Amino acid sequence: MPDTSSAVALHPADAGAAREQNAERLLRVSARHSHDPLTEIDWDAPIDPDLFAIPAHRVSLYGTDLWQQLTTRQQAQLSVYELASVTAAGIWFELVLMDGLVRHVYDSDLTTRHGQYALTEVADECRHSTMFAKYIARTGYPSARPSRRASRLGKLHMLLNDTTMTFAGAIFVEEYTDAMQREMIRDESLQPLARSVARIHVIEEARHIGYAKPELERRWARMSPARQALFRQALAVLAVQSVRETIHPRVYSLVGLDPRQAREAAANNPQWQAAKTDWARKAVAFFGDLGMIDSRSAPMWRRASLLP
Ligand SMILES: [Fe+2]
Ligand SMILES: [Fe+2]
Repeated sequence: MPDTSSAVALHPADAGAAREQNAERLLRVSARHSHDPLTEIDWDAPIDPDLFAIPAHRVSLYGTDLWQQLTTRQQAQLSVYELASVTAAGIWFELVLMDGLVRHVYDSDLTTRHGQYALTEVADECRHSTMFAKYIARTGYPSARPSRRASRLGKLHMLLNDTTMTFAGAIFVEEYTDAMQREMIRDESLQPLARSVARIHVIEEARHIGYAKPELERRWARMSPARQALFRQALAVLAVQSVRETIHPRVYSLVGLDPRQAREAAANNPQWQAAKTDWARKAVAFFGDLGMIDSRSAPMWRRASLLP
């Protein structure tokens, strides 16, 4: 059984106070460490076409026969397009999250710190999506639009207006990109522009995760077993579809590969499967501790390489 006792045991007044305290802390940190990517990033600095944007061993085709067929410059180019594609998926997700947060504020009292922090997070995500779009444009990647399937799923999420799922989805996507971007920050050989974007995002996302986690715990503890069962399935679908959205097949055609063949090679690539497992690890551990992944939903996570 997951240990949700601490969330259950809190008196509602104490739970409200803890929620306000957390929001107060997040607002204080936001006031000190918020970044304006429009002025803090040098968008006009030349981009070296031989630099990788993500570490080579994290590119979806790394180690495959197709990878060997590419020149080093093409491999670097593929890494840039893969990052641009992940970034486009990030914009899609941030827009859905902003919609969820605004609806959450609509149902909240804006004199609370909790309500005010939700709007602060929307402001962060506005800057992030603009920063991501500028990065994509700078790389020459042709689109910042989500796939049709993802676009439909996003609209469905907005229609269902499920705040608990919004927080769970935020935790999954934010932890996943956080893990990837931390690797980028650590690797000084990578493209400086990509690392600047990653640095700003990692700093601000830590707060978002700190806001969503206790909120999700509280909501989960109040949910009926029947709803929890449904939620586990929906969460697995959300995670699998979000990760599927990260690599658009056009990244392969852009470096001269057959997209269908390349996608299949990536899907069967143990290195790429390991990358996804590593990036999902923190979110999966959190959901597992809460009991949000069970024996019925685990196979879905496992098939997508999100669970070892
Ligand atoms: Fe963000
Ligand atoms: Fe975020």
